[in-house]
Amino acid sequence: MPHLFDFSYHNPTQIHFGLNSFSKLKELVPQGARVLMLYGGGSIKKNGVYEQVTQALSGHQVVEFAGVEPNPTFETLNRAVDLVRTENLDFILAVGGGSVSDGAKYIACAALYDGDGWDIVSSKHKVERALPVGVVLTLAATGSESNAGAVVTRAANHEKRVFYVQPARPRFAILNPQVLASLPDRQLENGVVDAFVHVCEQYLTYPVGALVQDGYAEAVMRALKTLADTFEQRRDIGWLQNLMWAANQALCGIIGVGVPTDWATHRMAVELTALYGIDHGRTLAIIQPALLRETIEAKRAKLEQMGRAVFGLTQPSAETTIAAIESFYRSLNMPLHLGDTDANDPEAATRVMQALRDHGNAALGGHAELDEAKTERIIRAACCK
Ligand code: NZQ
Ligand code: ZN
Repeated sequence: MPHLFDFSYHNPTQIHFGLNSFSKLKELVPQGARVLMLYGGGSIKKNGVYEQVTQALSGHQVVEFAGVEPNPTFETLNRAVDLVRTENLDFILAVGGGSVSDGAKYIACAALYDGDGWDIVSSKHKVERALPVGVVLTLAATGSESNAGAVVTRAANHEKRVFYVQPARPRFAILNPQVLASLPDRQLENGVVDAFVHVCEQYLTYPVGALVQDGYAEAVMRALKTLADTFEQRRDIGWLQNLMWAANQALCGIIGVGVPTDWATHRMAVELTALYGIDHGRTLAIIQPALLRETIEAKRAKLEQMGRAVFGLTQPSAETTIAAIESFYRSLNMPLHLGDTDANDPEAATRVMQALRDHGNAALGGHAELDEAKTERIIRAACCK
């Protein structure tokens, strides 16, 4: 009889969800806090979020730092760390998507660390303390607003690294679906796919009789599939609020407790952003189908289960489920191959493999026993015509 792994679960992020959730901000940021308000390239100044946040914090001391890039860089974030130190700031408020939230986590840790900040990103330094972080979310995709993960890129050498910092897990996250209304279609498409693959990474392994986790994972994936099927309603608040909650639940940790997980798609896809600047969600759609085909025997039982429970196939096979995943991505204008993007590099597979080797991800092992030969076949299928 298969059984769950032991687990401990605690997610301390307070979520405030809804159209009136900005009203909570004032009381959530402690009185007397000296706040760093961190944001990106300026979308918040066009959609009214900046005014709402600054107004809510009018009784607080706030210093702003703008210009956190999508796929935030170590170099930019370190300028914010300097600002936190010189201004003696003690609370980090991220106003943005995954990039700003991840950046806030790094800043919160680096501000209290005397060594090289890259020790945090490379997980060489185990972070034990961080400044408190809060998030006002403006893009639904990553789940960063209530998890401990972060992804930072060193622009100097195109190195993009994922790391986990529990002390910087946000204290609160404000999820007001109205703010998603200003997102371009491309970011909504990315959000559906990123959230879907987050669930897949915690579900598409082998069955362990996890009735609750499987059932919840399938519900979130069905919701995301429904959002793709009703994409023409994407400007309705009902559609947006479902995306916001689905993306949060996909990576707040609850789906993955006690079950085997496999983050190989993410580990490989990261290199396509680092090398070619492709949006995170799109890199997943390029890698995942090739990865599923290469590892189909190890994942066969769960692929069949997914075909039935998520795509409503009456006689699902692993092969037809992969085809259903691909047509779901295609319906969202995702590239399914590097050749479907602007990246035009005949040496792409060689470069990606080298990056994976350099970062220790060329033979991830795991339940599908990924060795370098399998990884290379996946990368070639995804990147070579
Ligand atoms: O910078 P601004 O001007 O704000 O524009 C942003 C950015 O250009 C724009 N945007 C955000 N909210 C908007 C808006 N435009 C109009 N209206 C709004 N309401 O959207 C663009 C993309 O933003 P970004 O934050 O980069 O997107 P996303 O949330 O997809 O985050 C991607 C980053 O998160 C990492 C990715 O690797 C990537 O670096 N991830 C983080 C994870 C985590 N912490 O758990 C897990 C994920 O797997 C992922 O790896
Ligand atoms: Zn992701």
